[in-house]
Amino acid sequence: MLAGTVARLLARRGHSVLALDSDTMPGLAVSLGLGGAADAPAPLADAAERGEDGRWRLKKGVGPVRAVGRYAVAAPDGVKLLQSGKLPAEGTGPIMGSLQAYYKVVHRLPRARTFGNWAIVGDLPAGPRQAAFDWAPYAETFLILAEPTWQSALTARRVARVVRSRRRAATVGVVASKVAGPADVGRVEELVGERVLAAIPADEAVARAERAGAAVLDHATSSPAVRAIERLLDGLMVMEPAGSCTVPDVGSP
Ligand SMILES: Nc1ncnc2c1ncn2[C@@H]1O[C@H](COP(=O)(O)OP(=O)(O)OP(=O)(O)O)[C@@H](O)[C@H]1O
Ligand SMILES: [Mg+2]
Repeated sequence: MLAGTVARLLARRGHSVLALDSDTMPGLAVSLGLGGAADAPAPLADAAERGEDGRWRLKKGVGPVRAVGRYAVAAPDGVKLLQSGKLPAEGTGPIMGSLQAYYKVVHRLPRARTFGNWAIVGDLPAGPRQAAFDWAPYAETFLILAEPTWQSALTARRVARVVRSRRRAATVGVVASKVAGPADVGRVEELVGERVLAAIPADEAVARAERAGAAVLDHATSSPAVRAIERLLDGLMVMEPAGSCTVPDVGSP
């Protein structure tokens, strides 16, 4: 919900936005407002091939620009969405080529000049696994969501440690999610062991949007959660160090 909403808000502020989804379970496409329409099991299957050594590689001529051009889908507000693939009943076997191609494409992204001035918003599945295996090499800022519960906050604490140890130059911040009030924010800070960057309130409009299979931005444009995400985004823009701003704020269209 956060990644999808941030991606669309950035697009509305005038940025070219690439949304990246490496969760093999559904989520980001719906949060972006595509419903189930973009639910392709292996969108990048054609981009990968296996060499004689059995290793996966990108087909000749396929780099980030071509991969986004061919395999990304258009989402509302002009966001482009590239997905690694969604798990079919048979398990990862049938989508392995797509997952491998996605991994290689995102690793080439930081060097792709075309995307130098794009805003790139990635959504990783819950837990430390993808952070540990470097599924978001394009990221300069990591937001780790923590709910005011023991399991969520203690998981967030570990994920933050994993990301910080792997990506020393990145900004890593915890965002309190589904909070009912200041006491919940304090609870998250106490359990995670650090101040949070922002807090997103528990918001019935988000739950209603989810039930309708819609993006919260289309369902309840100025709900409390959306307003909190707008403020979070404003704060992130300010945090970008001068001179390295990849997402210059050009104002609302
Ligand atoms: N601020 C909020 N208020 C109320 N419900 C929320 C809020 N944020 C998320 N939810 C609900 O919580 C569920 C999980 O949200 P979301 O898909 O954003 O989380 P996630 O961490 O990506 O989940 P997963 O780990 O399954 O990918 C959804 O049903 C969503 O509607
Ligand atoms: Mg998710």
